[in-house]
Amino acid sequence: MIENFEIIHYKEVTSTNDIAKKIIDENKNFCNKVIFADYQTQGRGYATNTWISDYGQNFLMSIIICPELAAHQQFYISKAISLEIIEYLKNKNIRAKIKWPNDILVNQNKIAGILIENSILGNNIQSSIIGIGLNINQVEFHGVSNVTSLHKENGTAYDLTKELNIFLSFRTKFLNLCINKNFEELDELYFSNLFGTHNFHKYRDKTGTFQAIVRGVDEFGRLVLTDKKQQKRTYGFKEVELIQ
Ligand code: BTN
Repeated sequence: MIENFEIIHYKEVTSTNDIAKKIIDENKNFCNKVIFADYQTQGRGYATNTWISDYGQNFLMSIIICPELAAHQQFYISKAISLEIIEYLKNKNIRAKIKWPNDILVNQNKIAGILIENSILGNNIQSSIIGIGLNINQVEFHGVSNVTSLHKENGTAYDLTKELNIFLSFRTKFLNLCINKNFEELDELYFSNLFGTHNFHKYRDKTGTFQAIVRGVDEFGRLVLTDKKQQKRTYGFKEVELIQ
């Protein structure tokens, strides 16, 4: 059960996930710490993507947790943190959706990205670094399209420290559901907040483009789609891309 997080604040880092890794390597007590930075010089996104965020505008953080989960249950961490972000935004009157595997969208514009890096020993997760980039106050994204922020959506600026405390106060809800292995509840909540479950959208895989509807995410964290010919298609990370 996570009771409290210790917040460690940096002005500038390469990547909060890198600092979290260093803290895990160098400390005995690394669980339930949050590394928060005003700026990242080498912010990393999923796979080869980078994550760019102006100084002091947004949430750039890595949460270290130590759940007693088996390695094959690791996608539940992603489910839980996605739901934390959705819930936080709901409390700001923003209806967001989860785009599998690691994006949070508002009207198809990205408001947050998640980069989870787990350390696995044998069959178990030793520690999990949950990297979160959540756009709060930035309104100008230097030509990058399909991006939004809390400020852009609600037309008002926010106090980042206050918001961080509000955000972390939701932890008991979903991360603890994950830690307590309430997987069925997490599955249901995750599915009801998943993008693309109601309508057909255009996707691309290595064979070409097709229209499909999201049926869910399987026990291995793979996306399950059905296309217009009622054919089931299952994809691992980076094997399929949503086009529109
Ligand atoms: C993605 O959308 O591809 C994931 C983006 C994750 C960005 C966050 S910002 C804080 C943490 N540190 C990083 O270098 N990346 C994550």
